[in-house]
Amino acid sequence: MDSLRLPSSIKPVHYDISITPEMDAQPEPFFAGTECISLRISEPTKTIVLHALELELTNVHVTIPAPDGPLSIAATLTLDKPIVTLTFPDELPVNGTADMKPIAGAPDVLLHLDFRGEFRTSELCGFYRSTYSLPDGTVKSLGVTQFEPTDARRAFPCFDEPSFKATFTLSLVVPAWPSGEDPQRIVHAVSNMPVQSTDTHPTTPGKTIVRFGRTPIMSTYLLAWVCGDLVRLEGQTESGTVVSVMATPKWDIEKQAHFALDVATKCIPFFEKLFDIRYPLPKMDLLAIPDFSAGAMENFGAVTYRETRLLIDEDSSAAIKQATCRTVCHEISHMWFGNLVTMEWWTYLWLNEGFARWAEYLATDYVYPEWHVWDSFVSDVSEAALALDSLESSHAIEVPVKNPAEINEIFDNISYSKGGSVIRMLASTMGHDVFVEGVREYLKAHLYSNATSENLWVALSAAAQRHNVSLNVSEFMAPWIRQMGCPLLTVYDADRPQKQPQPQPSEAQQAAAASTQESTNTTSTATATAAAAPTTATPVVLPATLLGGLDLPEGTPLHKRRFTVLQQRWLRSGARELTPEALFRVPLPISTHSGGSSRQLMFLLSSTWSQLDLSVPGPAQPEEAHPAEVFMNSGVVALARIRFAEDALFQEVLRVVANSLPHIVLGVPPPAGQVTCTVAETVRLLKDCYALRQTLRYLQVANVVQCFMQEAFARGELNLAHVKAQQGPTLLLMNALASGLGGLMLVFGEDDEIMAGLRQLGRRLFGPISGQLGWRKVPEESDQASLLRSLAIGMLIGCCESRPHIDRALEFVTTGMHELPSDCRGAVYSALVKFTPDGYERMVAMHEGCDVPEVKRNMLSALGATRDPEKLAKTLEYSCSEKIGAFLERFQGGFMLPNIVGALVNYFTSAAKADEIERFFREHRVPGAERTAQQAVERIRACATWAQSDAPLLRKWLQDEHLCPSASASPAQ
Ligand code: BES
Ligand code: ZN
Repeated sequence: MDSLRLPSSIKPVHYDISITPEMDAQPEPFFAGTECISLRISEPTKTIVLHALELELTNVHVTIPAPDGPLSIAATLTLDKPIVTLTFPDELPVNGTADMKPIAGAPDVLLHLDFRGEFRTSELCGFYRSTYSLPDGTVKSLGVTQFEPTDARRAFPCFDEPSFKATFTLSLVVPAWPSGEDPQRIVHAVSNMPVQSTDTHPTTPGKTIVRFGRTPIMSTYLLAWVCGDLVRLEGQTESGTVVSVMATPKWDIEKQAHFALDVATKCIPFFEKLFDIRYPLPKMDLLAIPDFSAGAMENFGAVTYRETRLLIDEDSSAAIKQATCRTVCHEISHMWFGNLVTMEWWTYLWLNEGFARWAEYLATDYVYPEWHVWDSFVSDVSEAALALDSLESSHAIEVPVKNPAEINEIFDNISYSKGGSVIRMLASTMGHDVFVEGVREYLKAHLYSNATSENLWVALSAAAQRHNVSLNVSEFMAPWIRQMGCPLLTVYDADRPQKQPQPQPSEAQQAAAASTQESTNTTSTATATAAAAPTTATPVVLPATLLGGLDLPEGTPLHKRRFTVLQQRWLRSGARELTPEALFRVPLPISTHSGGSSRQLMFLLSSTWSQLDLSVPGPAQPEEAHPAEVFMNSGVVALARIRFAEDALFQEVLRVVANSLPHIVLGVPPPAGQVTCTVAETVRLLKDCYALRQTLRYLQVANVVQCFMQEAFARGELNLAHVKAQQGPTLLLMNALASGLGGLMLVFGEDDEIMAGLRQLGRRLFGPISGQLGWRKVPEESDQASLLRSLAIGMLIGCCESRPHIDRALEFVTTGMHELPSDCRGAVYSALVKFTPDGYERMVAMHEGCDVPEVKRNMLSALGATRDPEKLAKTLEYSCSEKIGAFLERFQGGFMLPNIVGALVNYFTSAAKADEIERFFREHRVPGAERTAQQAVERIRACATWAQSDAPLLRKWLQDEHLCPSASASPAQ
């Protein structure tokens, strides 16, 4: 029954709800409610079907219009969780047409229900009770709602599907508060709309009825209310919308709410202009909730946040500030994308979340341009998408979902990060302005209603046509959202006669073999047949479509270059051929140079084999060895992995990177007459090498960076001043190197010799940076500098185990942590736990004595740094504070469960562990996390194969680079 969708012949148009929370009732806190739902009925029926879960329903009846005055008819209830069917003796009158317009003169049928529910205290969904302590030790309660995706039904009976939109009026009956309080500073009840009236309860002494204004037409999952004591800081947008940040009185609201208030007041007008639609509500509240399961929730006009995603103080790390800014922007973007226009059904969840992820970067870039967040988009968001989508057990962006567990499971990196990445790719391919014009049209066409992906494509196509952009949006997007997976492009240099566009038979066969071996997934759109023909058959190579860019000035000397590109699906277990219907349309911009100015050609690749004809400015006769003259996927537009078939081609790319480093790291102007690449492009190159398990290529890039840094340091070009100027790009580049290096250490962790070499490489890479930045915050230092310092110190301590850094860290613990920059806290705490005999116990004590959430979190994760298995088990117990059974009951079916399961199993890299995990999840079924477990097993197996195949190569490279001693070379080679 839990997969049943509600019939569409009865629609709610308005809910009038009154809730009385009894948060301190003994033995169990509960809430009581009454509601009256106005219904439109378009077909004769004796039943009303709606949602209610774990609610006790009484006094259920309808009032129907009749000639002699309204008739009241009681219902018989049938409960089949989470659905309630109300049956009436006679047919209910039809009073709405199929499109739910009221028939003139026919009043709505009114459904009355009384209900009662127990407060949830640990699940953090529905209407739940959150608790917190004041400095004097008093424990206080806050009643909070969290309805998305399917938990409004736990708080009041309703038609709990996103397309059943209605208006709402809500009253909360709460304890009366002392008269004379300043309502500007303290509030006791909040909901989506402003308070309309507060009245003393006529019959219950000591209670006040707070009535809120009528909401716009919206979905049930966006309704919210909070009751308890809240302090507030108020501001206003330039267009006059009142914005408030609220938190429980344990916070210093004046100080800690400033940051978020500032972001929100800037971000609302930004979106108003972007979407060309005014923010539709009279106010916007941002509420910090002590117990909150998501990061934040976009309830219309009353957005709830985890405290650490909203409240910032002077001591907060730069990382937390960025996460908070993005969270605020993300949720505010939902007011338009999600709340005004809502997905038709959860299958289109990505329309909400993918778009909001993209918009969150757009708005953060507007509020804090100095953070260069679009560069981090490439290294964080698109990577997360590619990583998950390289698994057989991934899923399409648009995915059929029925029951709540399935719905919860898709709040994942496919909906968010792949969704966001394909939106960015589409916007870059169409042109940002044309894209935005289409988005405005889409929003205006579906205001206060629901929409599907196709609706968005229609609006975007119309905008594209108006601007002569020759892109069929629907066709372009279909493979990206309807099937799982992302493309792998293998680039061949067609000018090299010995390397005609012939796939290496071994490669194609290997790929096919790898995929048939591991594929049991019938929903995959790729086939395992080797479409890439063996050397005897010539593959059909089609010219790629040139979308733009070839407008060279007359007389430019040209030399022609030609590449052939093979498109396959990228899988961690190998590449796989795509059937013709499954081929992606990949936008591939290519940078070339022309007399000092760079130029971009935009190709669209839609066939298995595509030919790219480039006319590159330069001497008409190509030289034998190409100088660095092209760079593929400039702007990192395509959401695809790129592999260079021949090493000569990779070396050409490497030369572009080497040429670009002075620009990236030192900020010197790019050299004239040369192709350069940006930091984002370099990061993607590194990530591609790592993901494609080209260990050597990855290390070659790392080496180029290291040599450059070393020389620049030696020549005095790279000093604090320069690092300051270019901290953003340097941070991103070093971050990508760090994550690859950390990953290699996980994969090759069992091999002491390789580990020693990788640690040495890490020290060479990060040591000088840490030396430059020191251990103390410099006055006026940028957030990027703090983050770069914490990255370097974190790597030197955690991964590279650098003794001088460990010792220095431990000194801070002894002499006082207040001198330590907050971004370095985590690394120092881990050093204490990992490298001192009593560090673990000291950390537990420190954790207990600390009440700053961010610091507490740093401490808790430091407990995980111990290498003592007994202490690790203790940590697990300590952090869950409950047994596994209770734990499962608490998180079952919720969206947190897959995250938790993922975090537990993702760091293993051996085949034996993969088997063990597989066995464990076969024996202990965990609905809602099955896909995650499958994904982890697949990822681990791929790592294990990699460790086996690349260890000798890696060892040899480390020896050649004098990073590990060659005398002890393993005989296994
Ligand atoms: N709509 C979600 C919150 C949500 C997530 C509700 C999962 C139900 C299940 C919200 O807009 C969101 O995406 N929150 C993010 C933070 C954001 C900055 C990505 C979160 O909670 O992690
Ligand atoms: Zn969201």
